[in-house]
Amino acid sequence: MVVVVLDQGDKDKPAAVVASGDVPIRDAAKEVVATGEVTGKMFETTLLHRPAGLKAKRLLLLGGGKAKNFSAAELRKLAGAAVRTLKGKSIRSFAFAIPQNGVSGPEGVRSVVEGVFVGDFDPDYYKSDRKDQKIDSVTVIAQGDQSMLKQALDIGRVVGESQNFTRDLVNEPSNRMTPTMMAERAKKMAHEVGLKCETYGADKIKELKMGAFWGVAQGSDEPPALIVIRYEPAGAVDKVHLGLVGKGITFDTGGISIKPADGMEKMKYDMAGGATMIGVMRAIALLKPKVKVTAIVCATENMPSGKAQKPGDVQIAMSGKSIEIINTDAEGRLVLADGLCYARQLGCTHLVDAATLTGAVVVALGYVNAGIFASDDQMYDRFTQANKQAGEKMWRLPLDDDYKEIIKSNIADIVNSGGRWGGAISAAMFLKEFAEDTPWIHLDIAGTAWMEDAKPWIAKGPSGIAVRSLIEFATNFR
Ligand code: BES
Ligand code: MN
Ligand code: ZN
Repeated sequence: MVVVVLDQGDKDKPAAVVASGDVPIRDAAKEVVATGEVTGKMFETTLLHRPAGLKAKRLLLLGGGKAKNFSAAELRKLAGAAVRTLKGKSIRSFAFAIPQNGVSGPEGVRSVVEGVFVGDFDPDYYKSDRKDQKIDSVTVIAQGDQSMLKQALDIGRVVGESQNFTRDLVNEPSNRMTPTMMAERAKKMAHEVGLKCETYGADKIKELKMGAFWGVAQGSDEPPALIVIRYEPAGAVDKVHLGLVGKGITFDTGGISIKPADGMEKMKYDMAGGATMIGVMRAIALLKPKVKVTAIVCATENMPSGKAQKPGDVQIAMSGKSIEIINTDAEGRLVLADGLCYARQLGCTHLVDAATLTGAVVVALGYVNAGIFASDDQMYDRFTQANKQAGEKMWRLPLDDDYKEIIKSNIADIVNSGGRWGGAISAAMFLKEFAEDTPWIHLDIAGTAWMEDAKPWIAKGPSGIAVRSLIEFATNFR
């Protein structure tokens, strides 16, 4: 089975052409393409049996749209679409010919491999007739130095598998992904790839005086978990220590400020930010950049109960700041406040957090872009570079001091909810109080961590957003 991409052509030349320099493949596809029956529009699929002149029994013509020059992001999606098309036909092994126009060589190989893994994931774990049609093998047809291509393939595999590792965690329902289970999964992964991982319970959270984190955790019968994963390579660059802080709310009922029943089941993915950081650490351990990285995941449920915190309560965060709880459903920022503070205490010089933090970011950016907030322009520039490379959609939102007004409290230092308007921004402003003067980036992935619909290249369900960007960012960090 060979997959080859078609270029749709353009206004001047509206005919599909085979986007491959491989002569036998071009020849095999020539006849069908000449009929004009295939347009080459993005993700169009045409399956040829017994293609003339090829050893392969089948040839899949995959529309690539009016690409002319295929980008890494397009290659990723095309590879994912190939996987998903073929899985549907029970074809588990194929060769993918990288188009000759556009990103090719090692970068092309890496993109294709990443796309293959992204496409290979299906969330239907608990269906008794789950087919589990994982791809057996993929051959990437590319030009260039063999060892460079092989290296790119290995990196692509690590990145793709780590993204899927995160998606696995996010996919689990809250009864199968309690804070304790999340900590166990992190520990198991850390052991497998040679990372240090410590997990702590309520005692440590209280001992560290994490009053904001505990304020959320106190309402649940499930014990919370503070997960710390460390990557400390020999010969790490001096003076930089990256801290990755993740929101690990394994279920968000809203607490006493309870959410409506409609759609509440989705709040099992409120630990996606934490799962992101665990997946990123996995990749870092395998790719071995020369930089110190520590991940901190604050995992707990957010439940209403006789022990739960109530609107109006005041909690003292680890940093000493007092917080008036206006809305117990604004819990993510509370656990992150102490996570960020702890990361600074552990010596992190740069911070990134990822969180399914606000419905407001979905209002602002829809399901397409994740929100980026940055306290430091230089760090933002470096992050966007990584983000572009990783092909994940994100958009910067503002953090001006003028917004500080919204989180003022009458009786404490700050409130935990700034209300409806600019909700994603006031949440970020709240976090900024705890990142303080440490360069910091906040990713609000509430609208992007879960695919609302399937796409040709990815299943409906957990997306693994931000994993690739953060791997890219961390591995180039110095
Ligand atoms: N986990 C939610 C945010 C969320 C919404 C995630 C939609 C994924 C999809 C968060 O804890 C929350 O409840 N935020 C509130 C904040 C408000 C009370 C200030 C929100 O956005 O409504
Ligand atoms: Mn909430
Ligand atoms: Zn939440």
